[in-house]
Amino acid sequence: MFKSMFAMAACALALAAASANGAQDQGPILIKFAHVVADNTPKGQGALLFKRLVAERLAGKVKVEVYANSSLYGDADELEALRNDQVQLLAPSLAKFGQYTKQLQVFDLPFLFDDLDAVNRFQKRAKGRQLLRSMEAQDIVGLAYWHNGMKQLSASKTLLMPTDAAGLSFRIQPSQVLEAQFQQLGAKPLVLPFAEVFNALQKGQVQGAENPWSNIYSKRLHSVQPYITETNHGVLDYMLVSNPRFWYRIPHSIRVELEGIIDEVTYAVNRQAEADNLADRQRIEASGVSQVLSLNAEQREAWRSAMRPVWQRFETEIGADVMKAAQTVNRKQRK
Ligand code: SIN
Repeated sequence: MFKSMFAMAACALALAAASANGAQDQGPILIKFAHVVADNTPKGQGALLFKRLVAERLAGKVKVEVYANSSLYGDADELEALRNDQVQLLAPSLAKFGQYTKQLQVFDLPFLFDDLDAVNRFQKRAKGRQLLRSMEAQDIVGLAYWHNGMKQLSASKTLLMPTDAAGLSFRIQPSQVLEAQFQQLGAKPLVLPFAEVFNALQKGQVQGAENPWSNIYSKRLHSVQPYITETNHGVLDYMLVSNPRFWYRIPHSIRVELEGIIDEVTYAVNRQAEADNLADRQRIEASGVSQVLSLNAEQREAWRSAMRPVWQRFETEIGADVMKAAQTVNRKQRK
């Protein structure tokens, strides 16, 4: 009798210890991190740094597999795969969450943020932080913002005034704001996954696109776009996301370690992104394959006023509070 009670107590203790260690008893926790860009981009580098730091600090407890270039999931299915726990980390562009929240559309508004520093300030302030939690009811939790850079317009012809874009078709990410932006210019927007952009431009399915320099260079888009106008008209940034059902089940001590690593990687990505884009801009110019055009003050103002009506159209959906917070981050205040 005493012996069997002792055996039962020992068994209960063993079970409690096992559950405190969480998934480690079944081997390391596997985190599949999928994304759609090349390794030599800010996001690609961030994913690889995350994998390396986890391997160094959480060996045997967590294993990270990185799938770049849409090799596991692409634009069409990655967020559903995350919600179904088939992949555990993604960093989609902020333009790709429109199905789950309208608030993040603020990042797509043309000429809202003057530069990446302004974007950074917004992301760090209370409203920006709140947006990380705006999709939890949809099984998506934001862990960090990662920068890529400001977007440039590329096309088969020179674009110096907004009227130059009329009649051309442009590849866009799945965002109603970006759709409205090109409609506002009299152009035709076409939603295509990132993996199809090069072919679509090469075959002339679309004549233009909007991308940061790093995405243009790493996917050789400049080789199929003779002109790139340095518009800096919008931002392409990312939200590092997981599924809260997966994330909050990770044993606390391991999750804290992972969150520390994410902070470190975020700092590294965000420090490096602007420099990477600048270097890729120079590589594109040096290649001589594509001509880089600049806008004078008058031309820039013409683009800004042509696209400005898009703000009014989306203000209600995005929310006056979010809009107001975003409009206070530029150094030079505008009306
Ligand atoms: C990315 O940088 O993740 C791709 C963005 C796009 O689809 O243009």
